[in-house]
Amino acid sequence: MTIETERLRDRVATELGRARDRTVGLTEAVDEHDLIRQHSPLMSPLVWDLAHVGNQEELWLVRDVGGREPVRQDIDELYDAFKHPRRDRPQLPLLGPDEARRYVATVRDKVFDVLDRARLEGTPLTEQGFAFGMIVQHEQQHDETMLATHQLRTGAPVLHAPPPPEPGEAVRGEVLIPGGPFTMGTSTEPWALDNERPAHQVDVAAFHIDRAPVTNAEYAAFLDAGGYDDQRWWSASGWDHRQKAGLSAPQHWQRDGDGWAYTRFGRTSRIVAGEPVVHVCFYEAEAYAAWAGKRLPTEAEWEKAARFDPATGRSRRFPWGDEPPTAEHANLGQRHLRPAAVGAYPAGASPSGVHQLIGDVWEWTSTDFHGYPGFAAFPYREYSEVFFGPDYKVLRGGSFGTDASACRGTFRNWDYPIRRQIFSGFRCARDA
Ligand code: AVJ
Ligand code: FE
Repeated sequence: MTIETERLRDRVATELGRARDRTVGLTEAVDEHDLIRQHSPLMSPLVWDLAHVGNQEELWLVRDVGGREPVRQDIDELYDAFKHPRRDRPQLPLLGPDEARRYVATVRDKVFDVLDRARLEGTPLTEQGFAFGMIVQHEQQHDETMLATHQLRTGAPVLHAPPPPEPGEAVRGEVLIPGGPFTMGTSTEPWALDNERPAHQVDVAAFHIDRAPVTNAEYAAFLDAGGYDDQRWWSASGWDHRQKAGLSAPQHWQRDGDGWAYTRFGRTSRIVAGEPVVHVCFYEAEAYAAWAGKRLPTEAEWEKAARFDPATGRSRRFPWGDEPPTAEHANLGQRHLRPAAVGAYPAGASPSGVHQLIGDVWEWTSTDFHGYPGFAAFPYREYSEVFFGPDYKVLRGGSFGTDASACRGTFRNWDYPIRRQIFSGFRCARDA
């Protein structure tokens, strides 16, 4: 066994442990009742996410990679996300909190045993630990979903974290990204998911992009200008949704005198002017951009702004370079319970001077979710391929609730354009 393989095994074990610590933190924070109940029809009960994480881990790592006997084959159907929509999940005969905790612990014990013996090269599924990395990312993605459920929960605050760093510099305006080809996607990132592959050249015309995400103060100016009542700024489907859903401000905002307040994780305060706006849907983002005389970036524009290094012509793994994110680079991993004000991460800027592309808020793009040229579903169609098409918009960059293991310059998220329970914001772009 080589030293490299041993290092990789240690890294996998550490990442599995970090994901589980977070899952435990999010589920121990509330009582039994709050674990079982549904906090919004858009979300699963927390106890469903918990056992689903264990079930996916069992399917892929215990049974598939490990070739072991099932732990609990009888519950596969209950935790298959395609069999039961979220709104129906509280009515299912789910494992209770203690049973779910025992189940995920049993699966994890077996997985550590599988990891000890697994070959981490030579087969596509486990090459460089891929299947383990996929399961780490799956758990972290559900942890972010559980964090979004916490945001929808009512009652006394149960989550705590220090405030994010203060801005180090004023970051305003936009930059020009020159036209020309760049490499989008990846064929080399070991834990990249199927939808990020393969690397391919994309010719992007010159464009301007905001140096920072749109802030609460900027968004409030749109509200004060009557933007929600002016059909001119909204697309036809956006206006239709705005009317039907009665949208009048970002989710969780409420009037406070002549200003605005928001409630996050059970605490209400005045909005902070310099923080990126969060909990807006695609249609709200699109309307703001039109009002500002701009538009949303395409997905390719976003990735070029984030990864293209004009000095070398190469695409970086992250805006700041190829090193993985640290606390200096980006607001990731639930280290803080809100986005940081614009200018708080100068060390995370791209070569062109675009800030906070990674972390803080997921950023809506104008692009529908599709496979890249040469896309091949791997290892299962239900991760990405079944969602391809015009129904979903791509979001990029991760939020304060996204773990670093599930975030990189190539990472793609997607959701319906009406969704805003996720930690979604945006920045604007315009043609050059
Ligand atoms: C990539 C966040 C859209 O939550 O639906 C979790 C991730 N896939 N379990 C989702 C996912 C299967 C996915 N998103
Ligand atoms: Fe899942």
